[in-house]
Amino acid sequence: MDHDQKIQSWVSDIEFERVGPVKSALKRVLMNPLVNYFPSSAMKAILRFAKCELAQCNWDDPGGWKSMVISYHGKPTQIADKILVNGGAMSMALRNRRLLAGRLLAKLITQADETSDIPVHALCLGAGPGRIIIDALLQSPDTAHATLVDISSDAFDYGRELAESSGLADRVKYVKGDVRDVTDVLDPPPVVVKMIGICEYLTDEQIVDILKSLSGVMAPGGSVVFNSISTAHGTDRFFRRVMGLHMIHRTPEQLSALFAQAGFGEFVSLPEPLAIYHVIVARLADQKA
Ligand SMILES: C[S@@+](CC[C@H](N)C(=O)[O-])C[C@H]1O[C@@H](n2cnc3c(N)ncnc32)[C@H](O)[C@@H]1O
Repeated sequence: MDHDQKIQSWVSDIEFERVGPVKSALKRVLMNPLVNYFPSSAMKAILRFAKCELAQCNWDDPGGWKSMVISYHGKPTQIADKILVNGGAMSMALRNRRLLAGRLLAKLITQADETSDIPVHALCLGAGPGRIIIDALLQSPDTAHATLVDISSDAFDYGRELAESSGLADRVKYVKGDVRDVTDVLDPPPVVVKMIGICEYLTDEQIVDILKSLSGVMAPGGSVVFNSISTAHGTDRFFRRVMGLHMIHRTPEQLSALFAQAGFGEFVSLPEPLAIYHVIVARLADQKA
């Protein structure tokens, strides 16, 4: 089994959320044009009137961690949230991305643990409360630990409660900081790095700068897990005009090319079934190899 097939096999049993052909066609010809071209002021007024929590979170902090939490496991009470969280392609794709990234991280940590004399250290950039790394640590050897970096420390109280309730309080460390200053917080060097939900908010130059600092402090041969986002959700105009979300859509190849500039290679790209996100695994070239 080659490297690509091995990584594919790690995720082959995941039960993803899918959209059937009829619902998908209805979204494409009816729902997406409606939300994209309905006057944005009227749409915002409707969402405000409907007390839509997801919209409010995005207005307060576009692309912030709270909207992720609502999509991952919020139990929405408002009708507008029920529609967006349970039926919206983006929320479904986010939950698929969580499953995919959590499993890949767990496998990479476990694999690294088999050849390491010291506990495996994972680093999460733009981690929010750490839902995905907590998923991964729960499936990994119990010596593995993680440092979670986020610019917004208000995710941390929620994250610490999550870690505590999962029995992982002593295996996660929350650090407030900008991912661009990442080298300040790393001891021991991370073997696995998670960059999920962050590249779509960064320019090419910012990504390359971060990766160059990262490659200087990561363990040689270490792995990174990141994601690209496509316009397959069909509602970019709605996200920009109504939600205030300005995401940078890149193909897995475009994003991988940026990682390659900082010495990463052996890219394996895995789409979730809605083809909105690809989760990509890459390895930092071992300079000594
Ligand atoms: C979309 S959320 C993703 C959270 C988490 N990684 C996930 O996938 O569930 C993006 C997170 O990146 C953080 N963030 C954005 N820019 C950042 C920066 N320059 N440095 C550190 N964190 C940043 C935000 O505060 C937010 O919590």
